[in-house]
Amino acid sequence: MSKVKIGIVGSRFQADCIAGAVKAIPEEAELVAVASPTKGHAADFAKRHRIPQAFTDYRELLRDPQVEMISITAPNRLHAQIAIDAARAGKHVVCEKPLCMTLEEADAMINACAKAGVLLLYAEELFFAPKYVKAKQMADEGAFGRVHLVKQGEKHSGPHSPWFWDVEQSGGGAVMDLGCHGIAFCWWFLGKPKVKSVYSQMATQVHGDRTQGEDEAITIIEFANGAVGMVESSWNRPGGMDDSIEVFGDKGQTYADMLMGNALPTYSEVGFGYAVEKAASTKGWTYPVFEEHWNYGFPQEMRHFARCVRGKETPISDGATGRVVQEVLYAAYASAGEGRKIALPFRPTGVTKPIDLWKAR
Ligand SMILES: NC(=O)c1ccc[n+]([C@@H]2O[C@H](COP(=O)([O-])OP(=O)(O)OC[C@H]3O[C@@H](n4cnc5c(N)ncnc54)[C@H](O)[C@@H]3O)[C@@H](O)[C@H]2O)c1
Repeated sequence: MSKVKIGIVGSRFQADCIAGAVKAIPEEAELVAVASPTKGHAADFAKRHRIPQAFTDYRELLRDPQVEMISITAPNRLHAQIAIDAARAGKHVVCEKPLCMTLEEADAMINACAKAGVLLLYAEELFFAPKYVKAKQMADEGAFGRVHLVKQGEKHSGPHSPWFWDVEQSGGGAVMDLGCHGIAFCWWFLGKPKVKSVYSQMATQVHGDRTQGEDEAITIIEFANGAVGMVESSWNRPGGMDDSIEVFGDKGQTYADMLMGNALPTYSEVGFGYAVEKAASTKGWTYPVFEEHWNYGFPQEMRHFARCVRGKETPISDGATGRVVQEVLYAAYASAGEGRKIALPFRPTGVTKPIDLWKAR
Protein backbone atom coordinates (compact mmCIF):
# COMPACT_ATOMS: atom_id res chain seq x y z
CA MET A 1 0.00 0.00 0.00
CA SER A 2 1.15 3.57 -0.64
CA LYS A 3 2.82 5.68 1.99
CA VAL A 4 0.58 7.96 4.07
CA LYS A 5 1.20 11.58 3.02
CA ILE A 6 1.63 13.84 6.01
CA GLY A 7 1.49 17.63 6.45
CA ILE A 8 2.91 19.20 9.60
CA VAL A 9 1.34 22.31 11.14
CA GLY A 10 4.06 24.16 13.08
CA SER A 11 7.77 24.23 12.40
CA ARG A 12 9.64 24.34 15.67
CA PHE A 13 10.33 21.97 18.56
CA GLN A 14 7.73 19.22 18.24
CA ALA A 15 7.53 19.64 14.47
CA ASP A 16 11.19 18.58 14.33
CA CYS A 17 10.42 15.48 16.43
CA ILE A 18 7.52 14.53 14.14
CA ALA A 19 9.57 15.15 10.99
CA GLY A 20 12.39 12.98 12.39
CA ALA A 21 9.87 10.29 13.32
CA VAL A 22 8.26 10.21 9.88
CA LYS A 23 11.64 10.07 8.17
CA ALA A 24 12.45 7.05 10.35
CA ILE A 25 9.47 5.10 8.93
CA PRO A 26 9.88 5.52 5.15
CA GLU A 27 7.99 2.30 4.45
CA GLU A 28 4.78 3.69 6.03
CA ALA A 29 4.70 7.48 5.54
CA GLU A 30 6.26 10.55 3.94
CA LEU A 31 6.25 14.29 4.58
CA VAL A 32 4.62 16.29 1.80
CA ALA A 33 3.93 19.72 3.33
CA VAL A 34 4.53 22.02 6.29
CA ALA A 35 2.70 25.18 7.40
CA SER A 36 3.88 27.78 9.86
CA PRO A 37 2.95 31.47 10.06
CA THR A 38 6.33 33.09 10.72
CA LYS A 39 7.84 34.24 7.43
CA GLY A 40 10.66 31.98 6.37
CA HIS A 41 10.21 29.36 9.11
CA ALA A 42 8.12 26.95 7.05
CA ALA A 43 10.49 27.32 4.08
CA ASP A 44 13.57 26.71 6.27
CA PHE A 45 11.92 23.71 7.89
CA ALA A 46 10.92 22.31 4.48
CA LYS A 47 14.48 22.70 3.24
CA ARG A 48 15.96 21.06 6.34
CA HIS A 49 13.64 18.06 6.15
CA ARG A 50 13.37 17.91 2.32
CA ILE A 51 9.61 18.57 2.29
CA PRO A 52 8.30 19.62 -1.15
CA GLN A 53 5.71 22.20 -0.03
CA ALA A 54 5.78 25.02 2.54
CA PHE A 55 2.87 27.33 3.43
CA THR A 56 2.43 30.24 5.85
CA ASP A 57 -1.28 29.53 6.41
CA TYR A 58 -2.29 26.04 7.54
CA ARG A 59 -5.56 26.38 5.61
CA GLU A 60 -3.54 26.34 2.38
CA LEU A 61 -1.96 23.07 3.52
CA LEU A 62 -5.45 21.70 4.17
CA ARG A 63 -6.40 22.53 0.56
CA ASP A 64 -3.52 20.42 -0.76
CA PRO A 65 -5.20 17.25 -2.08
CA GLN A 66 -2.01 15.25 -1.55
CA VAL A 67 -2.13 15.64 2.25
CA GLU A 68 -3.94 12.71 3.90
CA MET A 69 -3.06 13.29 7.54
CA ILE A 70 -1.88 16.34 9.47
CA SER A 71 0.20 16.55 12.60
CA ILE A 72 -0.69 19.54 14.80
CA THR A 73 2.42 20.89 16.52
CA ALA A 74 1.09 24.40 17.20
CA PRO A 75 0.42 25.97 20.62
CA ASN A 76 -2.39 24.40 22.70
CA ARG A 77 -4.95 27.17 22.16
CA LEU A 78 -4.95 26.45 18.40
CA HIS A 79 -5.37 22.66 18.48
CA ALA A 80 -9.18 22.58 18.37
CA GLN A 81 -9.66 25.01 15.47
CA ILE A 82 -6.92 23.41 13.37
CA ALA A 83 -8.28 19.90 14.03
CA ILE A 84 -11.85 20.90 13.15
CA ASP A 85 -10.73 22.68 9.96
CA ALA A 86 -8.66 19.62 9.02
CA ALA A 87 -11.59 17.26 9.58
CA ARG A 88 -13.79 19.43 7.38
CA ALA A 89 -11.11 19.24 4.70
CA GLY A 90 -11.18 15.44 4.97
CA LYS A 91 -7.74 15.03 6.57
CA HIS A 92 -6.91 12.59 9.35
CA VAL A 93 -5.62 14.40 12.42
CA VAL A 94 -2.74 13.68 14.78
CA CYS A 95 -2.93 16.14 17.67
CA GLU A 96 -0.11 16.81 20.09
CA LYS A 97 -0.79 16.90 23.82
CA PRO A 98 -2.80 18.29 25.51
CA LEU A 99 -5.73 17.66 23.16
CA CYS A 100 -7.09 21.20 23.61
CA MET A 101 -8.12 23.79 26.22
CA THR A 102 -11.66 22.77 27.21
CA LEU A 103 -13.96 19.76 27.31
CA GLU A 104 -16.28 21.53 24.87
CA GLU A 105 -13.39 21.77 22.42
CA ALA A 106 -12.54 18.10 22.96
CA ASP A 107 -16.13 17.10 22.14
CA ALA A 108 -16.20 19.38 19.09
CA MET A 109 -12.94 17.87 17.78
CA ILE A 110 -14.18 14.31 18.31
CA ASN A 111 -17.55 15.08 16.68
CA ALA A 112 -16.01 16.91 13.70
CA CYS A 113 -13.67 13.99 12.96
CA ALA A 114 -16.42 11.39 13.42
CA LYS A 115 -18.75 13.36 11.11
CA ALA A 116 -16.04 13.68 8.45
CA GLY A 117 -15.07 10.00 8.78
CA VAL A 118 -11.45 10.81 9.60
CA LEU A 119 -9.31 9.63 12.50
CA LEU A 120 -8.51 11.85 15.47
CA LEU A 121 -5.27 10.46 16.92
CA TYR A 122 -3.87 11.71 20.21
CA ALA A 123 -0.09 11.87 20.17
CA GLU A 124 0.81 10.33 23.54
CA GLU A 125 4.22 8.91 22.78
CA LEU A 126 4.63 7.30 26.22
CA PHE A 127 2.29 4.54 24.95
CA PHE A 128 5.08 3.72 22.48
CA ALA A 129 8.25 4.38 24.53
CA PRO A 130 10.08 1.03 24.41
CA LYS A 131 10.97 0.89 28.11
CA TYR A 132 7.47 1.77 29.20
CA VAL A 133 5.95 -0.69 26.72
CA LYS A 134 8.19 -3.42 28.20
CA ALA A 135 7.06 -2.50 31.72
CA LYS A 136 3.41 -2.75 30.62
CA GLN A 137 4.00 -6.09 28.86
CA MET A 138 5.46 -7.50 32.09
CA ALA A 139 2.59 -6.11 34.15
CA ASP A 140 0.03 -7.56 31.72
CA GLU A 141 1.79 -10.94 31.97
CA GLY A 142 1.25 -10.76 35.73
CA ALA A 143 4.89 -10.19 36.67
CA PHE A 144 3.95 -7.81 39.50
CA GLY A 145 0.69 -9.47 40.60
CA ARG A 146 -2.09 -6.93 41.07
CA VAL A 147 -0.63 -3.51 40.27
CA HIS A 148 -1.90 -1.02 42.85
CA LEU A 149 0.39 1.98 42.31
CA VAL A 150 1.85 3.51 39.13
CA LYS A 151 3.99 6.65 39.23
CA GLN A 152 5.17 8.79 36.35
CA GLY A 153 7.27 11.93 36.58
CA GLU A 154 8.27 14.40 33.91
CA LYS A 155 10.57 17.16 35.07
CA HIS A 156 12.88 19.69 33.45
CA SER A 157 14.01 23.28 33.79
CA GLY A 158 11.03 24.83 32.02
CA PRO A 159 9.72 25.18 28.46
CA HIS A 160 11.67 26.50 25.51
CA SER A 161 8.99 28.82 24.01
CA PRO A 162 7.36 31.87 25.66
CA TRP A 163 3.79 30.75 24.91
CA PHE A 164 4.05 27.82 27.39
CA TRP A 165 4.56 30.37 30.20
CA ASP A 166 1.54 32.43 29.14
CA VAL A 167 -1.50 30.65 30.56
CA GLU A 168 -3.81 32.37 28.04
CA GLN A 169 -2.05 30.42 25.31
CA SER A 170 -1.18 27.23 27.17
CA GLY A 171 -4.17 26.84 29.51
CA GLY A 172 -1.97 26.09 32.52
CA GLY A 173 1.57 25.37 33.69
CA ALA A 174 3.53 22.18 34.27
CA VAL A 175 0.42 20.00 34.64
CA MET A 176 -1.00 21.09 31.26
CA ASP A 177 2.46 20.72 29.73
CA LEU A 178 3.90 17.62 31.41
CA GLY A 179 1.23 16.21 33.71
CA CYS A 180 -0.95 15.33 30.72
CA HIS A 181 1.66 12.67 29.81
CA GLY A 182 1.58 11.12 33.29
CA ILE A 183 -2.22 11.13 33.47
CA ALA A 184 -2.45 9.32 30.13
CA PHE A 185 0.37 6.97 31.11
CA CYS A 186 -1.12 5.79 34.43
CA TRP A 187 -4.55 5.30 32.84
CA TRP A 188 -3.14 3.34 29.88
CA PHE A 189 -0.76 1.29 32.02
CA LEU A 190 -3.57 0.13 34.29
CA GLY A 191 -5.74 -0.96 31.34
CA LYS A 192 -7.77 2.24 30.88
CA PRO A 193 -9.97 1.93 34.01
CA LYS A 194 -12.55 4.57 34.96
CA VAL A 195 -11.12 7.49 36.94
CA LYS A 196 -12.82 7.83 40.33
CA SER A 197 -11.20 10.93 41.79
CA VAL A 198 -8.29 13.34 41.43
CA TYR A 199 -6.30 15.26 44.03
CA SER A 200 -3.60 17.75 43.06
CA GLN A 201 -1.21 19.95 45.00
CA MET A 202 0.06 22.79 42.79
CA ALA A 203 2.35 25.72 43.41
CA THR A 204 4.50 28.27 41.63
CA GLN A 205 7.73 27.69 43.54
CA VAL A 206 10.44 29.21 41.36
CA HIS A 207 9.13 31.02 38.27
CA GLY A 208 6.57 33.44 39.72
CA ASP A 209 8.20 36.27 37.77
CA ARG A 210 7.59 34.47 34.45
CA THR A 211 4.26 32.75 34.76
CA GLN A 212 0.92 32.56 36.50
CA GLY A 213 1.04 28.82 35.94
CA GLU A 214 2.12 26.11 38.38
CA ASP A 215 5.75 25.08 38.00
CA GLU A 216 5.51 22.24 40.55
CA ALA A 217 2.70 19.74 41.08
CA ILE A 218 1.85 16.33 42.45
CA THR A 219 -1.37 14.79 41.18
CA ILE A 220 -2.94 11.64 42.63
CA ILE A 221 -5.48 9.75 40.53
CA GLU A 222 -7.76 7.17 42.13
CA PHE A 223 -9.08 4.56 39.68
CA ALA A 224 -12.30 2.59 39.96
CA ASN A 225 -10.32 -0.69 40.18
CA GLY A 226 -8.69 0.56 43.40
CA ALA A 227 -5.28 1.32 41.88
CA VAL A 228 -3.64 4.71 42.26
CA GLY A 229 -1.64 6.82 39.82
CA MET A 230 0.82 9.46 41.00
CA VAL A 231 2.07 12.10 38.59
CA GLU A 232 4.90 14.49 39.37
CA SER A 233 5.28 17.51 37.09
CA SER A 234 8.03 20.11 37.44
CA TRP A 235 9.57 23.02 35.57
CA ASN A 236 12.19 23.42 38.29
CA ARG A 237 14.70 20.64 37.65
CA PRO A 238 17.82 21.75 35.80
CA GLY A 239 20.13 19.18 34.25
CA GLY A 240 18.05 17.91 31.33
CA MET A 241 14.77 16.09 30.85
CA ASP A 242 13.90 13.53 33.53
CA ASP A 243 11.13 11.11 32.53
CA SER A 244 10.67 8.03 34.67
CA ILE A 245 8.13 5.54 36.00
CA GLU A 246 7.69 3.24 38.99
CA VAL A 247 5.23 0.35 39.09
CA PHE A 248 4.22 -1.56 42.23
CA GLY A 249 2.15 -4.72 42.66
CA ASP A 250 1.70 -7.35 45.37
CA LYS A 251 4.20 -9.65 43.61
CA GLY A 252 6.83 -7.24 42.40
CA GLN A 253 7.82 -3.89 41.02
CA THR A 254 9.75 -2.25 38.21
CA TYR A 255 11.46 1.09 37.68
CA ALA A 256 12.31 2.74 34.37
CA ASP A 257 14.23 5.90 33.67
CA MET A 258 13.55 6.61 30.00
CA LEU A 259 16.47 8.89 29.19
CA MET A 260 19.14 8.91 31.91
CA GLY A 261 18.73 5.17 32.28
CA ASN A 262 19.60 4.76 28.60
CA ALA A 263 22.36 7.35 28.52
CA LEU A 264 26.14 7.33 28.78
CA PRO A 265 27.27 8.58 32.22
CA THR A 266 29.80 11.09 30.90
CA TYR A 267 32.32 13.52 32.35
CA SER A 268 33.80 16.29 30.17
CA GLU A 269 35.77 19.34 31.31
CA VAL A 270 35.35 21.08 27.98
CA GLY A 271 31.82 20.07 27.02
CA PHE A 272 30.44 18.83 23.69
CA GLY A 273 27.54 19.47 21.33
CA TYR A 274 24.37 17.97 22.78
CA ALA A 275 23.46 15.75 25.72
CA VAL A 276 19.68 15.60 26.06
CA GLU A 277 16.57 17.81 25.76
CA LYS A 278 16.63 20.84 28.11
CA ALA A 279 20.20 20.24 29.37
CA ALA A 280 21.75 23.72 29.57
CA SER A 281 25.35 22.51 29.74
CA THR A 282 27.49 19.59 28.61
CA LYS A 283 30.37 20.31 30.98
CA GLY A 284 31.04 18.15 34.03
CA TRP A 285 28.90 15.05 34.59
CA THR A 286 26.10 14.66 32.03
CA TYR A 287 23.85 11.94 30.57
CA PRO A 288 24.07 12.14 26.77
CA VAL A 289 21.27 10.07 25.31
CA PHE A 290 21.40 8.19 22.02
CA GLU A 291 18.43 7.48 19.70
CA GLU A 292 16.46 10.12 21.64
CA HIS A 293 13.34 9.99 19.42
CA TRP A 294 13.28 6.18 19.55
CA ASN A 295 13.55 6.20 23.36
CA TYR A 296 10.48 8.47 23.50
CA GLY A 297 8.60 6.33 20.99
CA PHE A 298 7.98 9.02 18.35
CA PRO A 299 8.75 6.89 15.25
CA GLN A 300 6.81 3.95 16.73
CA GLU A 301 3.85 6.29 17.40
CA MET A 302 3.83 7.72 13.86
CA ARG A 303 4.20 4.23 12.41
CA HIS A 304 1.12 3.11 14.36
CA PHE A 305 -0.86 6.19 13.27
CA ALA A 306 0.10 5.72 9.61
CA ARG A 307 -0.94 2.07 9.80
CA CYS A 308 -4.25 3.12 11.43
CA VAL A 309 -4.93 5.38 8.43
CA ARG A 310 -4.40 2.40 6.13
CA GLY A 311 -6.68 0.23 8.31
CA LYS A 312 -3.84 -2.08 9.33
CA GLU A 313 -4.06 -1.23 13.05
CA THR A 314 -6.69 0.12 15.45
CA PRO A 315 -5.81 3.35 17.31
CA ILE A 316 -4.61 2.85 20.88
CA SER A 317 -4.61 6.62 21.46
CA ASP A 318 -7.41 8.71 20.00
CA GLY A 319 -9.63 11.70 20.68
CA ALA A 320 -11.39 9.82 23.50
CA THR A 321 -7.99 9.28 25.16
CA GLY A 322 -7.27 13.00 24.96
CA ARG A 323 -10.71 13.70 26.41
CA VAL A 324 -10.08 11.42 29.41
CA VAL A 325 -6.86 13.36 30.05
CA GLN A 326 -8.68 16.69 29.61
CA GLU A 327 -11.27 15.79 32.27
CA VAL A 328 -8.53 14.74 34.70
CA LEU A 329 -6.71 18.02 33.96
CA TYR A 330 -9.89 19.93 34.85
CA ALA A 331 -10.26 17.91 38.06
CA ALA A 332 -6.60 18.44 38.97
CA TYR A 333 -6.87 22.23 38.69
CA ALA A 334 -10.19 22.27 40.53
CA SER A 335 -8.66 20.13 43.27
CA ALA A 336 -5.74 22.54 43.66
CA GLY A 337 -8.28 25.37 43.87
CA GLU A 338 -10.53 23.72 46.43
CA GLY A 339 -7.93 21.80 48.41
CA ARG A 340 -9.84 18.53 48.18
CA LYS A 341 -10.33 15.43 46.04
CA ILE A 342 -12.57 15.97 43.01
CA ALA A 343 -14.84 13.08 42.01
CA LEU A 344 -15.38 12.21 38.35
CA PRO A 345 -17.36 12.62 36.13
CA PHE A 346 -16.45 16.30 36.42
CA ARG A 347 -17.78 18.69 33.85
CA PRO A 348 -18.03 22.28 35.01
CA THR A 349 -19.36 24.66 32.35
CA GLY A 350 -18.10 28.07 31.31
CA VAL A 351 -14.42 27.11 31.63
CA THR A 352 -12.16 28.83 29.10
CA LYS A 353 -8.88 27.33 30.32
CA PRO A 354 -8.19 24.62 32.92
CA ILE A 355 -6.00 26.77 35.17
CA ASP A 356 -8.98 29.03 35.95
CA LEU A 357 -10.41 26.16 37.99
CA TRP A 358 -7.43 26.65 40.33
CA LYS A 359 -6.74 30.38 40.15
CA ALA A 360 -10.34 31.61 40.09
CA ARG A 361 -10.99 30.01 43.51
N1 LIG B 1 4.69 14.98 22.77
C1 LIG B 1 5.59 15.72 23.34
O1 LIG B 1 6.41 15.21 24.07
C2 LIG B 1 5.63 17.18 23.07
C3 LIG B 1 6.84 17.87 23.24
C4 LIG B 1 6.84 19.25 22.98
C5 LIG B 1 5.68 19.89 22.61
N2 LIG B 1 4.52 19.19 22.47
C6 LIG B 1 3.28 19.88 22.09
O2 LIG B 1 3.39 20.29 20.73
C7 LIG B 1 2.78 21.56 20.56
C8 LIG B 1 3.84 22.52 20.00
O3 LIG B 1 4.87 22.68 20.97
P1 LIG B 1 6.35 23.08 20.54
O4 LIG B 1 7.21 22.71 21.66
O5 LIG B 1 6.65 22.58 19.18
O6 LIG B 1 6.20 24.66 20.48
P2 LIG B 1 7.12 25.68 19.67
O7 LIG B 1 6.87 27.01 20.25
O8 LIG B 1 8.51 25.15 19.59
O9 LIG B 1 6.50 25.62 18.20
C9 LIG B 1 5.17 26.04 17.96
C10 LIG B 1 4.99 26.16 16.46
O10 LIG B 1 3.62 26.49 16.18
C11 LIG B 1 3.62 27.47 15.16
N3 LIG B 1 2.36 28.22 15.13
C12 LIG B 1 1.98 29.26 15.91
N4 LIG B 1 0.78 29.70 15.47
C13 LIG B 1 0.43 28.93 14.41
C14 LIG B 1 -0.67 28.93 13.53
N5 LIG B 1 -1.67 29.81 13.63
N6 LIG B 1 -0.70 28.02 12.52
C15 LIG B 1 0.29 27.13 12.40
N7 LIG B 1 1.38 27.09 13.19
C16 LIG B 1 1.43 27.99 14.19
C17 LIG B 1 4.82 28.34 15.52
O11 LIG B 1 5.18 29.17 14.42
C18 LIG B 1 5.84 27.27 15.82
O12 LIG B 1 6.41 26.79 14.63
C19 LIG B 1 2.22 21.96 21.91
O13 LIG B 1 0.87 21.64 21.99
C20 LIG B 1 3.03 21.13 22.90
O14 LIG B 1 2.34 20.89 24.10
C21 LIG B 1 4.49 17.85 22.66
